[in-house]
Amino acid sequence: MRIIIEENYNDMSKWSANYIASTIKIANPTEEKPFVIGLPTGSSPLGVYKELIKLYKEGYVSFKNVVTFNMDEYVGLDESNEQSYHYFMWTNFFNHIDIKKENVNILNGMASDLEKECSSYESKISSYGGIDLFLGGVGVDGHIAFNEPFSSLNSLTRIKTLTTDTKIVNSRFFENDINKVPSTALTVGVKTITSAKCVVLLVNGHNKASAFANGVEGGISHSCTLSALQLHSKSIIVVDEAACGQLKVDTYRYFKDIEKDNILPISQL
Ligand code: GLP
Repeated sequence: MRIIIEENYNDMSKWSANYIASTIKIANPTEEKPFVIGLPTGSSPLGVYKELIKLYKEGYVSFKNVVTFNMDEYVGLDESNEQSYHYFMWTNFFNHIDIKKENVNILNGMASDLEKECSSYESKISSYGGIDLFLGGVGVDGHIAFNEPFSSLNSLTRIKTLTTDTKIVNSRFFENDINKVPSTALTVGVKTITSAKCVVLLVNGHNKASAFANGVEGGISHSCTLSALQLHSKSIIVVDEAACGQLKVDTYRYFKDIEKDNILPISQL
C-alpha cells in the first residue's frame, strides 16, 4: 500500500487527478480496448472531478475511450432526483467531459428486479475484463462504497441496508432530515473494488482520521472495510494532513519519508 500525504484537500485532488489522467494516457485506450474506471460520489472526489475537467479542457486527457462504473446508488431515487448519484455524476463530472453516454454505467436504484440489476452489473464489469482503476472515498466508519462495517470482504454488487450512522452523516444532503435518507442502496462489493487492477482512495479531514488509522494500522477486518486494501497489490491512499491525526508518529514519518519525492503531481502531463 502507498500512502501519499498532501498538505491539504486541493493538493490531494490535484495529485489524484494527475495520477488518473496519466494512467489513462499511458494505457492509450481505444474503442476496442477502453480504459475502465470505477468512480465514487460524495464530497471527497469533487476536487478530483474539477481537476480532471480542467485537464480535459486543457487537452491533456480525453475520456472518449473510457468506460465508467459508479460505486453505488440509493434505492428509490430516480435519475432526476438531485440527491441521486446519477444526478451527482452528470452534474459534477460527465456533462463537462467528452465521455460517451453509452460508456457510463451507474446502478439503477429504480430497477424492478434489484438483484438482477446487481448481478448484471458484475457481469458487465467482467465483460470488460475488470476495472483498471477504482477511485473511492471512505466513510467516517471506514466503509468503502456502501460496504458498511461487517460487510463481507468477499462481497460483490448487492443491496445493502445503510447504518443509522451513515444516514445521519448523509442527511446533510437531505435537508438534515434522516427520515428523508433512503434506507437501502445498491453498492459494488468489497471484492468488486479489490478486484480492480489499481485502487486509489481519497481520505481528507479530521472526521476521517480514526477510520484511516484503523484501516491502515489495524488488522484486516470486516469491521472496517477499508482495511481490505491491505491485501491489494496496488492500492494508493491519498490523504491530507488533517486525516493523519490519529496515525502513529512512526507510520506518518515512514510514508512522509518514503514518498517525499513523489508528492508533487506527476510532471509528465
Ligand atoms: C457515502 C458513499 C461513499 C463515500 C462516503 C464518504 O457513504 N457511499 O462512497 O466514500 O459516503 O463520503 P464523503 O466523501 O462525502 O465524505
